[in-house]
Amino acid sequence: MSDLQLSPQGRLRHLLTLEGLGRAHIERLLDRADELRTRFRGGARALDLLEGRTIVNLFFESSTRTRTSFELAARRLGALVVNFDIASSSTTKGETLEDTLATLEAMDSDAFVVRHKENGTPARLALHARRASVLNAGDGNHAHPTQGLLDLLTIRDHKPRIEGLTVAICGDIRHSRVARSDVHGLAAMGAKEIRLCGPAALLPEADSFPGCTLVDDLDAAIEDVDVIIMLRIQKERIDGLPGFDGAEYFQRYGLHRARLARARSDAIVMHPGPMNRGIEIASDLADGPQSVVLEQVANGIFVRMAVLLELLHKQA
Ligand code: CP
Repeated sequence: MSDLQLSPQGRLRHLLTLEGLGRAHIERLLDRADELRTRFRGGARALDLLEGRTIVNLFFESSTRTRTSFELAARRLGALVVNFDIASSSTTKGETLEDTLATLEAMDSDAFVVRHKENGTPARLALHARRASVLNAGDGNHAHPTQGLLDLLTIRDHKPRIEGLTVAICGDIRHSRVARSDVHGLAAMGAKEIRLCGPAALLPEADSFPGCTLVDDLDAAIEDVDVIIMLRIQKERIDGLPGFDGAEYFQRYGLHRARLARARSDAIVMHPGPMNRGIEIASDLADGPQSVVLEQVANGIFVRMAVLLELLHKQA
């Protein structure tokens, strides 16, 4: 997929995955996001770097954070944003996604932000695009690259360096695209150890996460970690959850105050959202002093601005 998403000069042509993206490239994107954040927190309201460009949000799955922050990011850069309404579109009459993309591209769209339940849909559309860029906003359990980048930026805000950190990612790893993109990003940035924790049925095949430690005991998984990333159960990707008991799950796999004490005292608690309070995370921790959940949300705008600039701004 690296061949598809990078130009021969090594610039992003599409953003489909963090897998294969080098550390220097990731750092460049994070630095750019950091610069943009400084400008906007210093009083900038909007830039015109993408004036005249058109960005289409194509969300075939629901979203609060990703869709809104892509829209805000594009608008802050001066681009025109179209929120394509799938339910009232001709896809309901049988038009293929490829024909939908070609139709919108013929209207001079410059980029498509795509979320879809099927793994590989953004890559499939990227192969079909003539000129426009495709940004993966989450496909199945495959990848969510801008979530991975915003998580790295948030960790970098709190830790002197990502290199050498121990990170626990806990919950429904098997069905999580966030876990995959976080692992690719953290590994590229030199994290020392990545522990993946969840009930055996929600852990992935070991060979699908090379270099990670798989654990089914949350207390062991968070012992002395620097960063804890909690994930929700992806009910929409599981065929029913027979016998699932939220209270029982919380007892074994929920993060609460007593458990958090096992991590380093300066550990940060992350969650990509949406959160299920009282199931994977106690409400007081979600809102507590070690939680950086809303910082993740805020950073999402600047990371997406950085990515859009690399893809669409000629001088960037
Ligand atoms: N983290 C994330 O992808 O959230 P949304 O589903 O709300 O976009």
